[in-house]
Amino acid sequence: MSTARNWTFVYEGFEPEDEKHREALCTLGNGYFSTRGALPGAHADEVHYPGTYRAGLYDRQTTTIEGTAVENESLVNLPNWLWLTLGIEDGDALDPRSMAVLEYTQTLDLRQGILTRNMLLRDGEGRESRLTERRLVSMASPHLAALELTVTPVNWSGELEIRSGLDGRVENSLVARYRDLESRHLEPVLTEQVDPETVMLVARTIQSRISIAEAARTQCFEGERRLDGERSLEQEDDRIAERAVVDVREGVAYRVEKVASLFTSQDRAISESAYEAPRFLVGVGGFEEILAAHVLAWKHVWERCEIEVEGREGTTRVVRLYTFHLLQTVSTHTTEMDVGVPARGWTGEAYRGHVFWDELFIFPTLVFRFPEATRALLMYRHRRLPEARRAAREAGYRGAMFPWQSGSNGEEETQRLHLNPSSGRWHPDNSRRQRHVNAAIPYNVWLYHQATGDREFFDTYGAELILETARFWASIAEYDATRDRYGIHGVLGPDEFHDGYPDADEPGLSNNAYTNVMAVWTLCRGLDALEALPEQRRHELQEEMSLDRAELDRWAEISKRMFVPFHDDGIISQFEGWEELEELDWAHYRKEYGDIHRLDRILKAEGDTPNRYKACKQADALMLLFLLSAGELVALFDRLGYAWDPEVIPKMVEHYLHRTSHGSTLSAVVHSWVLARRDREGSWRFFHRAVESDVHDVQGGTTPEGIHLGAMAGTVDLLQRGYAGLELRGDVLHVNPSLPAELTCVALKLEYRNVWMKIDVTRERLTVTGLPGHDGSVEVACGDQRGVLGPGATLEFDL
Ligand code: BGC
Repeated sequence: MSTARNWTFVYEGFEPEDEKHREALCTLGNGYFSTRGALPGAHADEVHYPGTYRAGLYDRQTTTIEGTAVENESLVNLPNWLWLTLGIEDGDALDPRSMAVLEYTQTLDLRQGILTRNMLLRDGEGRESRLTERRLVSMASPHLAALELTVTPVNWSGELEIRSGLDGRVENSLVARYRDLESRHLEPVLTEQVDPETVMLVARTIQSRISIAEAARTQCFEGERRLDGERSLEQEDDRIAERAVVDVREGVAYRVEKVASLFTSQDRAISESAYEAPRFLVGVGGFEEILAAHVLAWKHVWERCEIEVEGREGTTRVVRLYTFHLLQTVSTHTTEMDVGVPARGWTGEAYRGHVFWDELFIFPTLVFRFPEATRALLMYRHRRLPEARRAAREAGYRGAMFPWQSGSNGEEETQRLHLNPSSGRWHPDNSRRQRHVNAAIPYNVWLYHQATGDREFFDTYGAELILETARFWASIAEYDATRDRYGIHGVLGPDEFHDGYPDADEPGLSNNAYTNVMAVWTLCRGLDALEALPEQRRHELQEEMSLDRAELDRWAEISKRMFVPFHDDGIISQFEGWEELEELDWAHYRKEYGDIHRLDRILKAEGDTPNRYKACKQADALMLLFLLSAGELVALFDRLGYAWDPEVIPKMVEHYLHRTSHGSTLSAVVHSWVLARRDREGSWRFFHRAVESDVHDVQGGTTPEGIHLGAMAGTVDLLQRGYAGLELRGDVLHVNPSLPAELTCVALKLEYRNVWMKIDVTRERLTVTGLPGHDGSVEVACGDQRGVLGPGATLEFDL
């Protein structure tokens, strides 16, 4: 199983039209910074986009659109350290775009985090050159990256020109839809030659005034011998490059090593970024030495993330690719940083590096492998509690109202207007009304607490996040005397196609079932959290929040009397009024447009609106089945005084399934999940879709703008919680597998409450092995069978 093939992605041939897609998938990163897999020497154009991003480094700019000033905060594309070109004498650079490409193979090695490119190129005069590139962004040392180009003149001898530099002439121009918006975020500060082989570039973000320093050292070798050649410098205020000309001979391999460092004024334990960047390189060895430490760090990362499936060729490989991207976005370095987890990883500029509710899909995979990084991501939210309290206050609510899109300081970053590429028109964007993100955050706190048992976090930070969001839900809920129930109005559910009622003047929906039920869930957890706190802390928090008995009684009251809409046949209705909407002629739109993922854009371009139809972008009401077990839902409905029969679930899944365009990659994950136990074939189809989503860019052009981290991590989670059937209930780890026909085995390693274990699922048997090296034990259950798992113990359950 663990063959090299399962650890590599190989692309044969240079394909300009697929280049940006490959660049996103071949992004290398270490949680601190990342660089897309662009050709060295490429500049941003129709084919390439060599983006470099430092996690959580944003800048805010204003643009006037149709008379309205719109402000957007964006993850900033940083100066390009990949700038390295080789050229034959005074001829062209060795570049697949201007030469005949005789061979071209690009390989992403997931196990070692290395991107390799092999090319054989021929210029107009018949001179052939073999080029091998190896690249890494060090997992061992967060500020470090390295690039090695080996060139062998196949049938010529002469002069080789090497140009290596740092290019600060970059903008945020990857996403075509954003190009009318201000895309400049950097201003030059200085360029400098540090020593004969090292240059430095310093820039600053225009609004957030973060200073960024990159230094790069370039050396050329023939075997072990250093070649100095004839050197010169090209220096401007926003870019700097060294040029060296060396004599090369036919058949001899010459190696150019470029080692780069990146520091910013956001970093910890530094004096000043321009002081650190060149200083750091002084102690850094050559490519091989950097590589060895990097490979070791990846080995340790993968040791925590073993996951393999048998039965369907290629699945393990994609699952590893998706895990790889998760680990490059959130790594052990994240624990030292103040960052959230962005929906698109640090791989592109779509959604501007913002943090959404997608955490909900990412944390389950992360928490069982990197609990401390998960904790750091929750701390990102906790630090932004004051901003969330302020947002609630300004909107007339109490508690904490976290933004739908979050960036630097936790204020609402959702754009006010968005461009419909199908029509070229700008529309108001009401997606900020997705208040349900305030259920995702407490849900994640609870998950983290259950999975780790980290009391210190819960008592000091976690409980407060739950209580403040519970308070928000209690304040947004309005009492309706005619129903004698509470309702929540003016919101959007996860399905972004519906941002209001047809012909209504005001945006927003009433009583989105997912929102209302998760609000109740949060209120219940608020009450539980208070109970669970040690006396001293409970007292402190209650005093600090002025949280008295009367308020808690109100929480309890709302949690018993929240309104939830149902259809006559018992199906949970997506929102109040859903049933009155028109049916869409799906066949017509499929025939007319082919790809109807983004039906909203199509309808709006036709002058229509999805608000009129029973048509969802993504799972909405079904999210309830994704987050809560049938048992939990029954208990919640029971509490609410609704007689809800879980027998209705298949009908409910059918109802929404036939009315969803899956315009978000998250949708396939949820649908695979909800079908996992009732329709294994259907579940597999959606699992497969999730597997395909980024490798094949199923949404036609979105992956080049950044991978979809929620769907990626969600795919891994489908294996562990969906198919292996992992479930946290109280203090017991339940494992109830249900493998689809296509899989014969799922094997994974995880940590639950400080106990590392291996879980092997086949059709007949579940084996759980406690790994040595820890003390303590946990209880594991499979159906009615139970056992205690300690170090070195093995539990076997017949299935
Ligand atoms: C989805 C959201 C998601 C966001 C970022 C949108 O297309 O509708 O649910 O949070 O993308 O991934």
